[in-house]
Amino acid sequence: MRKLCLCIFLTISLFPQLLRAKEDDFVRQPPRRVIFTRHLRSDSDPQQVHISLVGKDHMKVSWVTDKKHCKSVVEYGKESGKYTAKATGDHTSYKYFFYSSGKIHHVTIGPLEPSTTYFYRCGGSDPEFSFRTPPSKLPLDFVVAGDLGQTEWTNTTLDHIQSIDYDVLILPGDLSYADTHQPLWDSFGRIVEPYASRRPWMVTEGNHEIEIFPIIYPTGFKAYNARWPMPYQESGSTSNLYYSFEVAGTHVIMLGSYAEFDADSEQYKWLQADLAKIDRKKTPWVVALLHAPWYNTNTAHQGEGESMRLAMEELLYRARVDLVFQGHVHAYERFTRVYNNEADPCGPVYITIGDGGNREGLALSFEDPASPLSLYREPSFGHGRLKMVNETHAFWGWHRNDDSNFVVKDQVWLQSLSSSKTCSRSVNQKVTSPTGNDEL
Ligand SMILES: *[C@@H]1O[C@H](CO)[C@@H](O)[C@H](O)[C@H]1NC(C)=O
Ligand SMILES: *[C@@H]1O[C@H](CO)[C@@H](O)[C@H](O)[C@H]1NC(C)=O
Repeated sequence: MRKLCLCIFLTISLFPQLLRAKEDDFVRQPPRRVIFTRHLRSDSDPQQVHISLVGKDHMKVSWVTDKKHCKSVVEYGKESGKYTAKATGDHTSYKYFFYSSGKIHHVTIGPLEPSTTYFYRCGGSDPEFSFRTPPSKLPLDFVVAGDLGQTEWTNTTLDHIQSIDYDVLILPGDLSYADTHQPLWDSFGRIVEPYASRRPWMVTEGNHEIEIFPIIYPTGFKAYNARWPMPYQESGSTSNLYYSFEVAGTHVIMLGSYAEFDADSEQYKWLQADLAKIDRKKTPWVVALLHAPWYNTNTAHQGEGESMRLAMEELLYRARVDLVFQGHVHAYERFTRVYNNEADPCGPVYITIGDGGNREGLALSFEDPASPLSLYREPSFGHGRLKMVNETHAFWGWHRNDDSNFVVKDQVWLQSLSSSKTCSRSVNQKVTSPTGNDEL
């Protein structure tokens, strides 16, 4: 008996994770190493190909060539190898200390038909890529992944993302974790190419995109703006750091946690105007993304999004935004509908999804006891899927990376606020009272 006890004691003290595994049947995963994805094509071949939506029926194709003579041209068509159309775009490049980027090409192609596969070639050079355009009407499948990075976890997350079809990927900030080490931006472009060249990736910035260096690079976002330009002009924004776009019944607002957001800022005025333009008949769903969470019960990054929440929450609430995705915290958390720190049936559902696979590891500790506003929280790597089923219903699922498998750990049906009788009255009436909930 004594021997058995000693044996159990030794086992537990040597392998404490066994105890935890028993608690919730899952061992928290440690961070994994960074993958540096090499450039295996020739210097004049396209690399780091990725696509993003532009307006109703256009697509921007972005890529990099090491050689400067390569043309910013995309040939495309509906059959492999048969390019019936061609478009020319522009290019840019940038320097960051001793680093000089390759030639970064951006070409907008279209008009394109919805739900259609196009084959394309960049700069007149192989390889051929293909993408599928999103549908023009609901249903529509979003993938949501935040704080992606380029580690072995990123690889697993991307693998899981690809394993089920989807239409558009949306990312609430923190892409490459290059953190001023510019070759990591190129490596990130290569690790995501097999995914981001097939489906549009729509992103907004996180703190890892800033890359400010005092005096020399005082405004930051040099690499991010050069490599990942989003369609901000199309939504009336003057900055790549915040914009909106519409796809199949959904108005998506990409906010900038690292741009000015106070009431007299450009971003605030743009957001006000953008919200006022939304037609809920055309886009019954409104989704917003931002990096530093407004609602967060993890002990990591507490309060970092608070001043932005104080400045902008009321605008989103009055516009009856359905969902807000947040990044930054390396964990998953889902809140109930909230406004001003209280449960509110007409407020957005807040979801933190900063668990894509960054190199810094997970944010393991949550405040105790849990706030009643927080319905599910777990520090694990993973990604989310938002299926906009129809005008009134959407299905959200969080897919946890459980080593090589994925496991759907959290799921919930959501009803659009534009279809809620109580909440939609104020959508249509454009509430002007400061709290906006007087009819509830
Ligand atoms: C990353 O994933 C790809 C595709 O699944 C695989 O071929 C590659 O070996 C992986 N790389 C690493 C370093 O795990
Ligand atoms: C929308 O989808 C939900 C869930 O599948 C279903 O119950 C509802 O009837 C659908 N509404 C319409 C108008 O089709």
